[in-house]
Amino acid sequence: MAYETLIVEIEDEIALIRLNRPEALNALNAKLMSELTAVLAAADANDKVRCIILTGSDKAFAAGADIKEMAERSFVDVFGGDFFAPEAEALLRVRKPMIAAVAGYALGGGCELAMICDFIIAADTAKFGQPEINLGVVAGLGGTQRLTRFVGKSKSMDMHLTGRNMDAAEAERCGLVSRVVPAKDLISEARKSAAKIAGKSALTVMAVKEAVNRSYETTLREGLLFERRLFHALFATEDQKEGMAAFLEKRTAQFRDR
Ligand code: CAA
Repeated sequence: MAYETLIVEIEDEIALIRLNRPEALNALNAKLMSELTAVLAAADANDKVRCIILTGSDKAFAAGADIKEMAERSFVDVFGGDFFAPEAEALLRVRKPMIAAVAGYALGGGCELAMICDFIIAADTAKFGQPEINLGVVAGLGGTQRLTRFVGKSKSMDMHLTGRNMDAAEAERCGLVSRVVPAKDLISEARKSAAKIAGKSALTVMAVKEAVNRSYETTLREGLLFERRLFHALFATEDQKEGMAAFLEKRTAQFRDR
């Protein structure tokens, strides 16, 4: 299917979704957000997809929400229509793993979109920032909450209050990204990680995603109980029997998602 704002390729059980509005540095307009949520829901439902990579161009992952589209909107419009809420909720419903492969600018909603993914691999050209303060607003796709949990209060305040960008090295140092790779290798490195994940049991992958995400939603004690119960529950799967038998027989496990 052809999209106006995205390029989508499905190959080797990996869906590579490329944001594609070069004229606006992949700014997140209504069309892009609606195509993106539809593509992600379709990828999540597609048995041929086991991992999703979300990326942009060499210059920009995404330079934020579309300022041209927002500039004249009123409080009644955005509050009444609950601007970004349905899209934000739809992104959280994706159960398959999502890797953000970020080169260039990931600003405002772009940084927030990357943080919604399960982890971020950054090119050495990546620049992250929450510059909404320069526009007279605060972040609206989770930046004040997620960035604070990722990097702590001091750096999050610094980023949100000054509107400055951080480079890839700083993003790696403070735990915003899982690793930094040369820009030319970004997609191949993301594909390697995606291929590793695609080789695991899809049931276990979903359980990991739920358990790690739960750590953001609940107390430590409840999170530990949730994790332990998932650990117990996975003993009901054939994949647990296969994974442990394969280890003991010194062979590679053949998971069947059962
Ligand atoms: N919305 C709409 N258009 C954008 C855009 C955005 N967020 N970011 C860039 N563009 C457009 C520019 O207007 C320009 O279009 P024209 O050629 O038609 O003028 C084109 O993309 C290229 O941009 P620049 O000429 O500005 O490129 P540059 O290399 O000089 O600068 C940049 C790059 C530093 C990223 C700069 O474009 C910039 O500061 N962009 C805005 C970043 C921003 O403020 N993001 C936050 C948006 S608010 C938000 O995201 C809210 C939220 O939390 C949900």
